[in-house]
Amino acid sequence: MIFRKRKINHEIDPGKLPEHIGIILDGNGRWATKRGLPRSAGHSAGADTLKKIVTECNNMGIKYITVYAFSTENWSRPKEEVDFLMNLLLNYLRNAEKTLAGENVVIRAIGSRTELSEEIRQQILKTEAFTANNTGIVMNIALNYGGREEIVHAVKNICTDITDGKLNPEEIDEKLFSEYLYTVGQPDIDLLIRTSGEQRLSNFLLWQNSYAEMWFTRKLWPDFTVHDLHNAIIDYQNRGRRFGGIQK
Ligand code: IPE
Ligand code: IPE
Ligand code: MG
Repeated sequence: MIFRKRKINHEIDPGKLPEHIGIILDGNGRWATKRGLPRSAGHSAGADTLKKIVTECNNMGIKYITVYAFSTENWSRPKEEVDFLMNLLLNYLRNAEKTLAGENVVIRAIGSRTELSEEIRQQILKTEAFTANNTGIVMNIALNYGGREEIVHAVKNICTDITDGKLNPEEIDEKLFSEYLYTVGQPDIDLLIRTSGEQRLSNFLLWQNSYAEMWFTRKLWPDFTVHDLHNAIIDYQNRGRRFGGIQK
């Protein structure tokens, strides 16, 4: 086992790491149902997996990771499940101050905050402030996040700045637009991982995924391991990224 892990690590080129990894962590519910457990058990197991994967990304020297925790569409789930997820996220943010912050992780939440409870909003501010001066990986937790909502939100803010005379429409270009997104100042996604066999974006980082390399696995998120992460990175390093040009 140890030998296998070392071998995989050895295959990773530390000079060609993806700068920003996106993860659509999917399959928690199916993982639980398969075991005769309530869906909530899958979400709890998924939260443990997330800690392991973020810690490994940080140890490897990855600079940014964005994880899809709750989409703008997930409100359509049964109230019981939504309440459980909100409570789990609240505790995750609380505990992250001790665990992930100890790992030097910078934690940020991206998405629309207005629909979240006051308690979660306060905890987000607290966790963000608590970890702001860390120097390790930046972890964006996409919470009540939707790619379309993010773009509409950006357009509204651009319009406000134009109305207030702070911005001239001629100044709008792709670079300026990206500065109005929740991921302001961060690079686009290089490697997008989705578990559970689904092969769709589900409204995740529509702008930032423009040129992402996509990597899919049938494994359900709670079963995803550091070994799987290494495999995704090795695959990524063997792809030819051309960005519309031709292979060098
Ligand atoms: C992903 O697992 C976690 C969230 C969407 C919050 P799911 O809950 O979507 O699990 P499946 O897809 O139903 O198995
Ligand atoms: C995407 O998963 C959202 C998150 C992982 C938070 P879903 O399970 O909600 O997506 P669909 O419904 O399968 O597209
Ligand atoms: Mg799902």
